[in-house]
Amino acid sequence: MLNAIALATKSSLRASPHHAKAFFSSSTRSLARNKVLTIESMNDAVKNVEYAVRGELALKAESLRVDLAQKKPLPFKRVIGCNIGNPQQLYQKPITFFRQVVSLCENPDLLVPKNREALLKLYPMDAILRAEMLLRDVISVGAYSHSKGVPSIRRNVAKFIEKRDGVPANPEHIFLTQGASSGVQTILQVITKNHHTGIMIPIPQYPLYSATLSLFDATPVPYYLDESHQWALNMDDMEASVKEARSKGTDVRALCIINPGNPTGQCLSEENIRQVIDFCHRERIILLADEVYQTNIYQPDRKPFHSFKKILHQMGEEYKDVELVSFHSISKGMVGECGRRGGYFEMVGIDEDVIDQIYKLVSANLCPNVQGQILVDLMANPPQEGDESYPQYQEEVGAIYESLKRRAVKLATCFNGMEGVTCNEAEGAMYVFPKISLPQKAIEAAKKAGKEPDNFYCLEMLDATGVCVVNGSGFGQAPNTWHLRSTFLPEEHLFDEFCAKLEKFHAQFLAKYKD
Ligand SMILES: Cc1ncc(COP(=O)(O)O)c(C=O)c1O
Repeated sequence: MLNAIALATKSSLRASPHHAKAFFSSSTRSLARNKVLTIESMNDAVKNVEYAVRGELALKAESLRVDLAQKKPLPFKRVIGCNIGNPQQLYQKPITFFRQVVSLCENPDLLVPKNREALLKLYPMDAILRAEMLLRDVISVGAYSHSKGVPSIRRNVAKFIEKRDGVPANPEHIFLTQGASSGVQTILQVITKNHHTGIMIPIPQYPLYSATLSLFDATPVPYYLDESHQWALNMDDMEASVKEARSKGTDVRALCIINPGNPTGQCLSEENIRQVIDFCHRERIILLADEVYQTNIYQPDRKPFHSFKKILHQMGEEYKDVELVSFHSISKGMVGECGRRGGYFEMVGIDEDVIDQIYKLVSANLCPNVQGQILVDLMANPPQEGDESYPQYQEEVGAIYESLKRRAVKLATCFNGMEGVTCNEAEGAMYVFPKISLPQKAIEAAKKAGKEPDNFYCLEMLDATGVCVVNGSGFGQAPNTWHLRSTFLPEEHLFDEFCAKLEKFHAQFLAKYKD
C-alpha cells in the first residue's frame, strides 16, 4: 500500500542533488564547502520535496527550447509543454472582459473624466464601471489588502458559492489565496501537528500534496483510485488504508480529494461523494476538497460536478459536525489565468479559534496579491445576461469549453488506438492518464539508465517529438504499472498533428524495444 509513496520519497532523495546541479554553475558548487548553507546543511524537508510536473522532463524541455533558439538541429520545430495545465502558455486566449477590467485597474489614469470619450471607443461601459467599483474597494492594485482578501471580493465569492450550491456561505470563512496551491499549503500546515499526523492522499495524486506533506513532515496515507472503474474511489480500500495507518500509530486527520481529478480526469458521482462524506463523519477526518476543475466538466449530463459542500448540506443535521475545506482557483476552467495566482478556500464546520489562527498565519504574509484577487472577483461575478459584455463573454467561454471537450475525446482516442495502451476518457479537468505496457527490453534499458521505465519512455518521447508530458511515477501508480499524464491543451488547429507525432513515436519506440 505504501510502496508508491515510499518509492517517490526514495527517488526524491536521489533526485535532489541532480536538481541542485541543474541550477548552480560548477564554480559556485566547488566553493560550497566554505559556506554555511550547503546542500548538506540545508533543510532536509526541502530536499525531500519532489515535484515531477516541473522535474527532470520539464528541465530537459527547457534546455531543448534553448537549443531550438540557438538553431541546433532537432527533429522538431517546437517544444510542446503538455506537462502542466497552463492553458495560456499554449495560446488559449484570455477572456476579453477580464483583461479589460484588469488593464483599467492597472492604469487608473485611463478612467479620469477627460479620457472618457476616448476610453469608450476601446472599452465597454460595464468593464469601466467594474474597474471603478473594484478601485473604490482596493484603492490601488499596489496597496496591501486585508490579509484574508478584499472584503467585497470575499462577499462576491460567497454569493457565487450560494448561487452554485443553494447553500449560504459566510465571507468570514472564505480566504482569498495566491492560487489554490497556497491555500492547500496553509491548511496542511495548520493540520499537521507533527510527523505522526497522517493525511490521506490519492494515488495517483497531484504532486502538490506529497510535496507539501514532505515539507511539513506529515505522513502521507495513500489510497488508490480504481483505474478499472474510471478512477473511482474505493471505499473499502480507503477504510483499509486508515485502519492500517492508525494501527501503526499514525494520527489520520484529513483526507484530500481532487474532484474532478488530476492526473486522472474523473468526475466523482454523487453517490461516491456521499460515501466519502459519510466516511469522514464516521472516521472523524477533515475533508479537503480540491475543486479547481469544477467547470472543466465534459459529460455534464452523465457526470455533472457536485460540490462537496452542497452534498454535505443535503445530507442533513446528522453530518453537521463534518469539517470541510474546499479550494478553488482562477488557474483552470475557461479562465486559465495561472500566472496571476488567485484562488480561495472556504471553511465549513471549522472551529472559530482555528480560523483565528489561520487568519494570524496568513497575516504574516500580509495579503494575497491584489491582481489575483481581482481575477477571483471576475471569475465569481462575470458579466450577467443583459450586460453589454455578456454576449462576448458567453461566446468566448463557450468556444474554449467546446474545444477542450473535443480535444479531451481526441487525445483519449489517440492513446486508446496505440498498441499496449489503454486510456480512460477525461470526464473533467485537463488531462488524460493512459496506462502503457512497456516491452521488457525497454524496462531493462531504463534500469540500465537508472530511470523509472515510464520516465524513460517520456524522455525518449521528448527527444523524438518535442512533446513534454509527465511520467506516471511522478504521481504515484499501482505497482508494476506505467502511465504518463498529458494535458489536452495544444491548440486545436494543430491537434491532429500533435496526436500523429505521439502515434508515430509510440510505434517507433515499440519497434526499437521489441521483446
Ligand atoms: C488539482 C490541483 N490543485 C491545485 C492546483 C494549483 O492551482 P493554482 O494555480 O491555483 O495554485 C492544480 C494545478 O494544476 C491542480 O491541478
